[in-house]
Amino acid sequence: MDKSKIPTEQRAVLGMLADDHRAVKKLFKQFDSTGNDKEKQSIAAETCRQLTVHAQIEEEIFYPGLRGKSDKIDDMLDEAEVEHGVAKNLIAAIGLGESDMLEANYTVLTEYVGHHVEEEEGELFEAVVKAKIDLREMAAQLEQRKLALMGEIA
Ligand SMILES: [Fe+2]
Ligand SMILES: [Fe+2]
Repeated sequence: MDKSKIPTEQRAVLGMLADDHRAVKKLFKQFDSTGNDKEKQSIAAETCRQLTVHAQIEEEIFYPGLRGKSDKIDDMLDEAEVEHGVAKNLIAAIGLGESDMLEANYTVLTEYVGHHVEEEEGELFEAVVKAKIDLREMAAQLEQRKLALMGEIA
């Protein structure tokens, strides 16, 4: 997603969420490119931490702020919430620390989150821009909540 093309009213919020997506995708690549089990475990733990915080700020602040704007957006949010649920199950499975299942769980998480991010950026973000939803006040809220959660889930 090209941030310079996002209108000012949505840029800070959508840009920040897209940055989170990029950061997680980078971790996916790192996991893939190392053969070291210990490294894989620590990359997986960091991925889960970042995804947990990201999903939570979307669920607490971003998605509720978009509710009721249009039926189409509401449908997308319903779907997104179901997808978050599935991702959380995979994160929980990874959290159990069964090393023989790490590769499988992480691979499915990678595919699943990749799909979710594509829909979020390609459909939901587009719809938010089209509907001209003013997100300027939400940016600081998201940032603050993210920092607080990052501190909690250390
Ligand atoms: Fe997201
Ligand atoms: Fe999401």
